[in-house]
Amino acid sequence: MGKNIIMNKETLKNTIQQLFASNKGLLAMDESTDTCNKRFAAAGIEQTVEMRRRYRELIVTTPGLNENIGGAILFYETIRQQTKDGINFIDVLTKAGIIPGIKLDMGAKPMAGFQDEKVTEGLDGLRERISEYKTLGARFAKWRAVIAIGDGIPTMQCIEANVHALARYAALCQEADVVPIVEPEVLMDGAHNLQQCFDVTEQVMKILFYQLYKYKICLEGMILKPNMVIAGTKSTVQNSKDEVAEATVNCLLQSVPAAVPAIAFLSGGQSANDATAHLNAMNKNFKNRLPWILTFSFARAIQQPALDAWKGDDANIKEAQNLLYQRSKLDVAARQGMY
Ligand code: G3H
Repeated sequence: MGKNIIMNKETLKNTIQQLFASNKGLLAMDESTDTCNKRFAAAGIEQTVEMRRRYRELIVTTPGLNENIGGAILFYETIRQQTKDGINFIDVLTKAGIIPGIKLDMGAKPMAGFQDEKVTEGLDGLRERISEYKTLGARFAKWRAVIAIGDGIPTMQCIEANVHALARYAALCQEADVVPIVEPEVLMDGAHNLQQCFDVTEQVMKILFYQLYKYKICLEGMILKPNMVIAGTKSTVQNSKDEVAEATVNCLLQSVPAAVPAIAFLSGGQSANDATAHLNAMNKNFKNRLPWILTFSFARAIQQPALDAWKGDDANIKEAQNLLYQRSKLDVAARQGMY
């Protein structure tokens, strides 16, 4: 298969080890401008660059956040922003021992010829962008692909186009000694049941890992960020915490190689309590059988209570920071099955 990618495996492994030391997980704070504005609108917060900056300052300056969070994923707008006192966010994080990461994809766009399906863009110029963000201080990165379940979907074309892009992104990251988070998200939207989510997630994972093999990805130097196996939000049957945990673990055992060091789940629109309880049940019930670390890389499930408390008003910063700290602490407990 020709030469392997030139990379420093030890650098990748060290970064992963640091990210997840002391039972920590990741904080995804890389909402695109559109997504962040949508969340602000729902919470009655003005949708401006300055409000986004103020919100992200609240997050990165949360006292004690580094006890629970080993890495924070940033959006390109955020990575160059500063606190009101002129300190780069990236320096605030690094000083606290939180490794900065960067969202590298340019979003999921409608896939031509495939109704209701999306393909994630962003490969053009990616080598140069990785090098730029690395210079700024990013040591890991994220690329999110989305797979919808519905009538006749996902199609094989949608799965293949998305995992192909994930593999090429991961190769470019590893070439630069930047750890890729590989995120193929099977969406919770829809009326599908748990078994349908299981089947699609298993299929996506198997095709993904074949593609990662073909593109020479070093599995020890990557992080997988999957959805949990869960019924769709419109399904009439919702499962217990233990059932979701069992289905998720069984699905991943079928499809994710043991060489992958860590699986960091997205929350995907679950409530903060549900996401934490599901992670807890997986670790509590199955920890001794698992070849990988099972941890979190939540956005909404860590941030939502804090965002609702902040309401765009600086008088609420302390309360919001306290909620952010508490939520992330509970996720650390869930990583140990002690929530
Ligand atoms: O890509 C998705 C985010 O990083 C995770 O967000 O936990 O709100 O699903 P979520």
